[in-house]
Amino acid sequence: MRQLKKDERVRIALVLNGRKVSADAEPRMLLSDFLRYVLGATGTHVGCEHGICGCCTVLLDGIAVRSCLTLAVQAEGRSVATVESLSGVNASLNILQQAFQSNHALQCGFCTPGILMSFTDFLARNPSPSQSEVVDVLSGHLCRCTGYAGIVAAVLEAADRLKDEKTRSPSSVP
Ligand code: FES
Ligand code: FES
Repeated sequence: MRQLKKDERVRIALVLNGRKVSADAEPRMLLSDFLRYVLGATGTHVGCEHGICGCCTVLLDGIAVRSCLTLAVQAEGRSVATVESLSGVNASLNILQQAFQSNHALQCGFCTPGILMSFTDFLARNPSPSQSEVVDVLSGHLCRCTGYAGIVAAVLEAADRLKDEKTRSPSSVP
């Protein structure tokens, strides 16, 4: 394996929110910094940079990961989805985002992108969650201002609405 020179950058190509992108980064650069400062996906927030708060959570090949614990080079050739991927045409909110809005599940919104991405992954794998399963996933996130009851209610409401939508038009809901 070729030894990299000090400060040498490497080319990283990935699919970000359905679009092929590539840019250079030092091998030590975190995925969270690469997304925010190199690719401009600033919806991914950075709080603790220690894997604790969860606000940097993104989907890597569909699985929720802490982007502050992932190196940008680990995303090479893979698919990354950030909170920017959730809204539809004309920035319309998706069902999970609408449920957050209607259940007052956010105030400042700093923690919200990571929570939305965790539950996007979770609801894709578990379309009929119990309240305790939702609480269990939410325990991986810190919110400093809203309190967690509204978030739990929002996720349960979104799960119900997604199931209804799927029953009505099975092909339109992932
Ligand atoms: S910034 Fe990644 S978990 Fe807190
Ligand atoms: S809504 Fe402010 S930190 Fe969660």
